Amino acid sequence: MRGLFFAASALLAAAPALAQSPPQLPAGEGREIVATACTQCHTPQVIMSMRKNAGAWRVHVYDMFVRGAQVTDTEIETVVDYLAANFGPGVNVPKYEALALPDGAGRELVQQRCGTACHDLTRISAARHGRGDWAAVVAHMLNIGAPLTAEEGKTITAYLQKNFAEK
Ligand code: HEC
Repeated sequence: MRGLFFAASALLAAAPALAQSPPQLPAGEGREIVATACTQCHTPQVIMSMRKNAGAWRVHVYDMFVRGAQVTDTEIETVVDYLAANFGPGVNVPKYEALALPDGAGRELVQQRCGTACHDLTRISAARHGRGDWAAVVAHMLNIGAPLTAEEGKTITAYLQKNFAEK
């Protein structure tokens, strides 16, 4: 144990950059393909900061495939399974900063459902959408696995239109 500790600290001392490097892709079938094919144009952090269900990941992987990702068509489902298992809604969610939202009906829902499972609330406060676009964004989030009923989606849409729509 002691030996291991010294070996580990020697390694960290020798490679301070490594010790501070961002979290790496989790282990699992498909990891090697993602680590190779999905990091040629952007860092793995782009992937690790996203949360989507399998259907939405599939759309995304096909999009990347068309853009030139080095994935064979037989590997696509393995990649989709890996991404959905590790980066699905509510899975391995990073710790988010709380953000004060304006009062009003829907505030609690937005706080709980839009700022915890997949991304933080700055994604909302920084977005500039018109009223119609917010309806489309919420519908899209429902499609990709946001933990919402259709009724809650309506309340949230109204709240976002009131507080975050472009004037
Ligand atoms: C040929 C270059 C290329 C490869 C290879 C590639 N991507 Fe991308 N990816 C991009 C570009 C360019 C963007 C930013 C443009 C956009 O979001 O439409 C992007 C954006 C993303 C995003 C963020 C999208 C968003 O809405 O913010 C994710 C997630 C992603 N890629 C996942 C993957 C995965 C998974 C793979 C492997 C199957 C992959 N990428 C391989 C070019 C690539």
